[in-house]
Amino acid sequence: MREAQASEVRVIDAAFVAGAVDDASLPPPTMAEVAFAGRSNVGKSSLLNAMMQRKSLARTSNTPGCTRQINIFEVRCSDGLSLRFIDLPGYGWARRSKDERAHWQKMIESYLTHRASLRAVVALVDVRRGVEEEERQLIEFLALPRPVSERRPLEIVLVATKIDKLSASARKPAVERVKQAALAGGIQGAKLIGFSAVTGAGREDLWARIRAAVL
Ligand code: GTP
Ligand code: MG
Repeated sequence: MREAQASEVRVIDAAFVAGAVDDASLPPPTMAEVAFAGRSNVGKSSLLNAMMQRKSLARTSNTPGCTRQINIFEVRCSDGLSLRFIDLPGYGWARRSKDERAHWQKMIESYLTHRASLRAVVALVDVRRGVEEEERQLIEFLALPRPVSERRPLEIVLVATKIDKLSASARKPAVERVKQAALAGGIQGAKLIGFSAVTGAGREDLWARIRAAVL
């Protein structure tokens, strides 16, 4: 039943609601939230635009370090589902000062650890790079128990993105390699979705995962 609905996800309303630089500037945790995490330039904001069916609601750039605060979007689907999407700043790579990087890290970790309304984290990996040290650290961090009381544990969804950059024949083995690396990194029964913000591949699968996590 849920699967059938998920294959037809239409976003009827998507809006930017807030940009937060620390826990205190976040809106009250009144709606289910799904956060998107991954290194700088991996394609978080682009993926969000594809999921929300909006061309440039979340700002994207060729230059790593584009998203510098926790950007919060509210999304309403045609079947009445409402939720928030959280666009996190990327880590690593960005040409920022050490202090700024440390501040981001603290902000992101604090959000992921303490946010009571957080239901799922979508962790993005570039399909061409696979799981490297940064990704391993993120995955390990996400697997830690959280202090907030929860009905169920945080859902972690892995996405291998930019699959359009590979030839059709190279895609499947590359996605499989990322999956094996995630399993080796300790993600139990790693769920992995191949995605492209350019072609929209993987969008319905990812929506299905997100819905299952928030409903
Ligand atoms: P930060 O905000 O700096 O952390 O980056 P981000 O993870 O939000 O990345 P962003 O969405 O800004 O994308 C970075 C670059 O990758 C942009 O030039 C995008 O156009 C490109 N990009 C993102 N997703 C895809 C994809 O699926 N396919 C291709 N070909 N390019 C992509
Ligand atoms: Mg971004």
